[in-house]
Order: sequence, then structure tokens, then C-alpha cells
Amino acid sequence: MSLKFPVLMTLFIAYAPLFAGFEFLGNIKSQAVHLNRVEFKTDNALFNIYVYDDNVIRFRYTNQKEFSAMPSYAVISGLPAKAAFTFKDDGKYFTLATKTLKVRIAKSPGRVSIYDAAGNLINADEESFGVSFDNDEVRCYKKLLPGENFYGLGEKSDDLCKTGKEYTLWNTDFWAYDDRTDKLYISIPFFYGIRDFKAYGILFDNTYKSHFNFGAEKGELDYYFIYGPEMKKVLTSYTNLTGRAELPPLWALGYQQSRWSYFPEAEVSALATNFRTKRIPCDVIYLDIDYMNGYRVFTWNEERFPEPAKMLGDLKKDGFKVIPIIDPGVKADTNYFAAREGLAQDLFAKYPDGQFYQGEVWPSWAYFPDFTKAATRTWWGANLARLLADGVAGFWNDMNEPTVWGTHFPDIVQFDGDGYPTDHKRIRNVYALEMARATREGLRKHSDQRYFVLTRAGFAGIQRYSAAWTGDNVANELHLKIACRMSQNIGLSGIPFIGSDVGGFVGNPSERLYIRWMELGAFTPLFRQHAAWDTRRKEPWTFGVDVENAVRDFINLRYRLLPFLYNEFYTAHKTGWPVMRPLFFNFQDDPECYRTEIQDQFMLGDNLLVAPVLSETDEFKRFYLPEGDWYDLNQQRFYSGKQWILQAVPLKQIPYFLRAGGFLPMQAVQQYVGEKTITETEMLIYPAGESSYTLYEDDGISYEYEKGVYSRTQFTCQTATDACKITVSREQAGFKPLRRNYLFKVISQHPPVKVSVGGSPLSLVKSAEDLYQKAEGVYYATTDQMILIKTPDRRDFEIKIQY
Ligand code: GLC
Repeated sequence: MSLKFPVLMTLFIAYAPLFAGFEFLGNIKSQAVHLNRVEFKTDNALFNIYVYDDNVIRFRYTNQKEFSAMPSYAVISGLPAKAAFTFKDDGKYFTLATKTLKVRIAKSPGRVSIYDAAGNLINADEESFGVSFDNDEVRCYKKLLPGENFYGLGEKSDDLCKTGKEYTLWNTDFWAYDDRTDKLYISIPFFYGIRDFKAYGILFDNTYKSHFNFGAEKGELDYYFIYGPEMKKVLTSYTNLTGRAELPPLWALGYQQSRWSYFPEAEVSALATNFRTKRIPCDVIYLDIDYMNGYRVFTWNEERFPEPAKMLGDLKKDGFKVIPIIDPGVKADTNYFAAREGLAQDLFAKYPDGQFYQGEVWPSWAYFPDFTKAATRTWWGANLARLLADGVAGFWNDMNEPTVWGTHFPDIVQFDGDGYPTDHKRIRNVYALEMARATREGLRKHSDQRYFVLTRAGFAGIQRYSAAWTGDNVANELHLKIACRMSQNIGLSGIPFIGSDVGGFVGNPSERLYIRWMELGAFTPLFRQHAAWDTRRKEPWTFGVDVENAVRDFINLRYRLLPFLYNEFYTAHKTGWPVMRPLFFNFQDDPECYRTEIQDQFMLGDNLLVAPVLSETDEFKRFYLPEGDWYDLNQQRFYSGKQWILQAVPLKQIPYFLRAGGFLPMQAVQQYVGEKTITETEMLIYPAGESSYTLYEDDGISYEYEKGVYSRTQFTCQTATDACKITVSREQAGFKPLRRNYLFKVISQHPPVKVSVGGSPLSLVKSAEDLYQKAEGVYYATTDQMILIKTPDRRDFEIKIQY
């Protein structure tokens, strides 16, 4: 199925099975209005419009006798039983209207145009082509409106703006891809159209290979039109449909170390010891394929890892969580329990004649579990429990496009389709999604603690089960740039937990490239270093002491930022908004934010701007600060916004800026999450006008937050010419943070004359050191425009700074 936007029009193509010949949709012959939808019959097809929400309308077409009953893999939210809309016959047209949208349905021929409430055209079928059926395909041509631009489609390695280009969605393992590679591991048939700074989104709910010309090979034409006009609203509505990410375990936001492969056991413990003795924080160690016995999933190589439970237990005491790789292929070996069980219980994908399919992957010939079958998912989850019992902390799903070597995975291979039998053509793009589902469901059954799941392949909705990484990248400058923009692009598609192999998977980075990549990594949602077996060692200390020291600083900074980052994951969990965002996501009305070079910058949340240096040799960086005032966190300088800035960028510095009105919670460095009881939260505030921030906290490891066991503390800051007032109030106190005090760091261009908390004046101490030693109730004004205030943590209090 495909979706095309050629120069004058946009086109979606989908295939309708069993149909031969070409037909247009034809004229509307009849209509029936229901509480939540309108059903039309046309000369050649059935056409339904469903009202999901004021701003979310689904359009569905088939030239078959009825619509497919197969449930969607991407969309998990149901159609409400009743929706608020009106439907009128206006002669040549029908008009369906909600509070936000007006859909005009031309009768002859059947065509759809969508307007906002003010009557502006947002999206329309192309007049001559509209919707058509060509043999197996269903197509939909849309008008390309003047000035319209396109964004989205998840894992694509080219520029963020997709206008004028063509894309195919077909999950593909592409070793050492580049910025011209089209098909990659993850397929997300969701994009944004933006015109006059107003955004809509279209989710094309079809799992077949799909073409977006700015054009699918089969299936129904079934799409959800989502109106904003804010991108934030579009993404919230999109994730209402496809689901949101759970809160990850807090430790998964720490530094993660991987390599193909760490073995035997002695090497893993040496690695762990190195981190701790060198005082480089690290939470996670990965085990790549060599931990297994002959690449058989759910097993250990007993020579290399004779006592896995003991090893994992020892590592745990030292704060390390271990994540093993899991590939879907089950070695075709009848002496192997997993193969025997799968065959006996009929859990693997088969040829139409009933023979089990075998493809070649790491263990040589392997069977492929049919994850679209409930029994397979349950079995898979139960087998994961073997490794969980040994003490692993999650799973790293790889090769799940699914990849096979030498040939393509045959299209005729049959899958259960959860009771709607179908073939590889329909299932390929959701194979990894269903494998991740099996994993997550297995984990939830196993225990009530949060585990970490990482996947290479996926489809719309993968965020419900897993974090993702961007596959087999290369240690070069181009890939450093790709790492930055592709993570933003994937975030725009509802997947907040994303990162790339820091340092590059294939090949060897120079020292400079390595440092720059670690700097970027410290600010990406997933901070994981990984490298291929034939590359040089890339652990933080393997480039010499100078690099080690620089890298330690960035990993330390990452740990300082954990409260802030965790809060952004909470925002993602509640709203679907990315943790790492393109500038235009926050500053949608600013044309500068759409420029191509801007993709080398990003926002973390609403107020932290990061301008990473994505070149080995650059000593200067030109970057843009949008509207507002900005505080340079490296150089302690103020900048006003809406300007481009050229700055010298020393190798060991990554430019990052806090926006006026912003809050940045931080905490002390730990060698791993949970190493220390953190009793102090540092709150950096850049006062401007009136602003507020809500800090979310919970235990970071259980699902108790789903039952309200969390806390939300609201901070406000109001400024006047001669004063600044900060209030703190705990809005939700289901969880009691271990905090005893706050260290406020208030950015201020003047020294204060008086600082008081709850009306009582604080005493001024002589140095920052003095302040750090005092338990609370003191302040200090530094020379670098900062007022430091130490207060106890109370449920509600107020700080007043007088200038
Ligand atoms: C694939 C993965 C890579 C892994 C390798 C060996 O190439 O993308 O991350 O290290 O397989 O398992």
C-alpha cells in the first residue's frame, strides 16, 4: 500500500486483494448516519467515515463486499460509541462537522475535503484521481497545497523535511546504511503536513509494504486524519490511537555499555571493575550473541558463563544491570528444547503446505516464531523467564525485521494474524512489534518491577512495549549527524526512548569524533555505546586518559541531569511528546526553525536547547536560538533569542542553553542509579515573567505509579523589577521522595539585597563551600550571576529574593 505526494498531488496506494482491473471510487449512491460514523456506498466501493474525536477522523475504503474484520496492530484505542458531530446534505455535497473540523464529501464523484472550523482548507482529495482501485492496489491522491511541507515517517536517515521525496516502508536490516538508504528497520506510516505553521497528521493504518510519494501494496485504504493545528496536539492524538511508552526503569536513563561481544565471564567482570575503579558511572552492560550456546535463544554458553546467576548477582551488587540480546530465530535443532516445543505446539511460521519455514541467521537454519499467535507470545514470554530467573534486567531484541541471510523472507510464509490467517507481506512490518509485545507481556507477568526492552525493528505503536535504537550505523561524521536528526524524527513518531550506537557500530572513530559523539549521547534519550566485533575497543578509557577524562565529565553530566530527563519521560508517557525534539516542534511559528541546518540542534523538553557539534574538525558552531532569552550553561552568558550565533566550540564542550522561564532539576553524580540515597535536589531556575514547572518523582523501578504512588511538585517563579518569588508546592504526594533539601540556583543578573523563605530572612554565607556545608537556610550570591539558596524540603513554601 502507498501514499504519494507528487508535485501537484499526494497519493496513498493500498492493495485490495482479489480484485482485477482498474476502477475509481465512483459516485456516492447511499449513506447511513450512525452515532459515531457515516457509511456510504459508492458505485464501486464501501466508504466509511468514523469520528474518533473532534480532531481525529478515520476514512476507510474497500472495494470488497465488506471491511476486513482483522484488528489493527497499530491502533489500540476503540471508536467511541457516540461522537459529537453534525451531518448535512448540502446538495452536491454532504457536510460532516465536529467542533474543530468540517469534512465536505462531494457526491459525484466521491471526494473528501477537510477544512478547519474557520473554513480554511487543510487537506483534500485530488479532483480527477481521488480514490481508486487498481488490481490489488488502493490509491488515494491528495492535493498538494501551496507551501505544504511534510515531516515524520519515523526511522528515515535523510533530512527532517520530507517534501518532494519518495519513501517505502518495509522493515529492512541495512548494515552500514547512509543518508540515502530508504528502507530501514522501523516502519511508521504516520506523517505530518504543515502549511502556514498549522499541522495535521495522517496515520495510514496498513501493515503492507507502503510507498509514500510524498504513496501500499495491498490492504485497505484506511487512514486517520488528525488535526492540530499544534504538532503537540497531533502527536497527543496519534499516541491516543497507538499508545504511549511506559515509564522506563530510572536506571535505563543511565549510561549503557555494549559491544559485540563481552565474554567470557572474566571479561564482563573486568569491564565492570574498570567502570567502578575509574569512577565512570555506568548502569547497564549488554551481552551480545556470544553468551548463548551455539546462538540458541534462552540458553547460556556454559564454558564462557558457567554460573550465570552468580555472575549476574555479583554484578547487581555492584549496581550493574545486564541485558542479553534475543534474536527471534530458533535454531532448527531437534535436540534443542525451544525448537522441540515450538514444533510440537505449532508456534512457528509455515509455508502454505504446512511445512515449517526455515531461514538462515546466526544459529544457521532457524524457525521463526509466529508472534501474531497468542500461544506463541505466551510461550515466548514463559521462556524469557529462564533468563529472568538468572537475573537479567531486560531484553535486547535484534534481527527482528525479521532478517534472514542469502534470500528474502518468502512472502508466501503464513502467519496466524491473531485468528485472521495471512502472509509475510502483511506481517513483516509488525513482526517486531508483536515480538516486543510478547516480551513486554511476558515481563509484566513475571514480576511487578520495570524491565528494559530495546528493539531494532518496529511499527507504529512500538513505543507501547519498547525503546529503540537506530541499528548498524558507522563511525563517521555523517552518522554523527544522522544520529542527531534521526532520533528527533523517530521522536516525532511517538517513540520517545531512542538513541544510536554511540561511537558508531561499524568502523573506528577518531578521538575527536568519539568525544563529540559521547557529548551528543549524554543528551539523547538512550545513551548506549555499542560496537561491532571487528572494531577497536571503544570503552570510555580505551582512547587514553585525556579522552577518558573528557568522557567521564559527560557521563557525569548525564547523571546530574537524571531528574530532568526522567521528568521528560513522564511528559512523554502522559502526552506522547518526544524527549528529544526538533526545534519546530516547540517553536512551530518560527520559520527559522524549519531550516535544514536546524536539524543539527534539538530541544530536550520545552526549555533546554542543545546545539551539539557534529563534526570532528569544527572549532566554531553556528546555531540558532529561538524566541526568548537564553542562558549559556557552559559559558555563563546571556543571549537574547531570535538570532543566529557563532560560537567557538572547544572539543570538550557541548553548547546547551536554558530558556528564560525554564527550570532544570539536577542531582549529585552517582556511579549507578541507586548507589546513594540522594537527599538533595538542585533546581536551576532562570526567572523571567511568570513561569512554572512540575517535577514528577516515583520509586523509579515498580509499577506502583500506575496506582498513584508518585509525587508531583509544582514550582512557580514570578519576577518583578525588584523581586522574584519562587513557590514550591507538592500537588500529588502519593510517593515520598527521599529528598531532605533543595539547592536552588537562581540565575540572576543582579546580586540580591535580601533572601527569605516563608518570611524569615536567610543568612548570607561567604562562599559556595560554606553553603554546601550548611544543612539549609542560607544563601550565597556567586560572581557568575547565580544566587544559591539552600532550603529544607517542605510540602509548601515560598522564597522571596529582593534586589
Ligand atoms: C546486528 C545488530 C548489532 C549486533 C549484531 C550481533 O548487527 O544490529 O547491534 O551487535 O547483530 O548480534
